[in-house]
Amino acid sequence: MKATAVAPANIAFIKYWGRIDAAKKLPANPSISMNLSACITTTTVEFSDKFASDEVTAGFDKQRIFDHIDRIRAIAGITQKAHVETKNSFPTSTGIASSASGFAALTLATASALGVSFSEKELTALSQLGSGSAARSIPDGFVKWEGEVARSLYPSGYWDLRDIVVIVGSTGKDVSSNAGHDTVRTSPYFQERLRALPERISRCERALQQKNFQELGQVIEEDCLDMHHVMQTQHPPLFYWTDETKTIMDEVKHWRDQGLPVYFTVDAGPNVHLICEAGNETSVMEKIGNTYQVIVNKPAKGAHLL
Ligand code: DP6
Repeated sequence: MKATAVAPANIAFIKYWGRIDAAKKLPANPSISMNLSACITTTTVEFSDKFASDEVTAGFDKQRIFDHIDRIRAIAGITQKAHVETKNSFPTSTGIASSASGFAALTLATASALGVSFSEKELTALSQLGSGSAARSIPDGFVKWEGEVARSLYPSGYWDLRDIVVIVGSTGKDVSSNAGHDTVRTSPYFQERLRALPERISRCERALQQKNFQELGQVIEEDCLDMHHVMQTQHPPLFYWTDETKTIMDEVKHWRDQGLPVYFTVDAGPNVHLICEAGNETSVMEKIGNTYQVIVNKPAKGAHLL
């Protein structure tokens, strides 16, 4: 009763911010993302009669991991305790979100160790209960998550994009994204965001379908700024950017003015994700220079067993 699964983190082109049901982590809006090849979690789960209690070697929030194992254990109808070993390909101190890759890998490894076979759809729904964005780390490549289902729009080989993560910092967040979702309705701009999203989502899907990079980049930046506008106007307000974050965002605009097609997006932390096509990776790296640590990601397949 032992299995190992790997799962990628993902970067949202259209962000998930806010829920209509906190317990089920039902998102307020559909989101679209790309799996990240260099931000991977590998998790081994073993169930045994000889274990006296659940244990996890590492992990950000052990109780959240135990609660998730409980859910899957209840479905399988067994009582054996679990030992969980988990490691990330990226240093956790970088502030790169590990909950998406973490809960996707944990769901698949736990289900497999218990011998329960779930469809991809069921795996996305289960992962979502651990962490919303984890649902998007189950299917391959470019993924759309809506309601309780995430599905692949295109496989990882569809479009050779890059997400170059510029590591700005890892200062412990005052408010986690988990808590931030709960207070989203205190922003007067949240309803406006919801009204604008259907059209923005269509634009993003069309840009992906047509491989129109400029349109994709514009919609990615627009949605990032819109989400942060909501975050910054919630109570309490959530400011995830540092001065360096802002400096890099300004630089990206400047590089674009010089003719380099690159766009930024930022999640619930200060790191900046630079999105470009493969052919411009070298130029973007030259622009970044040696000041920052970077993680270069290609589109990746979703969670799978080792
Ligand atoms: C800003 O998936 O971390 O990264 O469901 O509470 O685990 P929980 O929240 P989480 O929220 C992610 C928010 C975001 C945007 C996104 O990835 O879509």
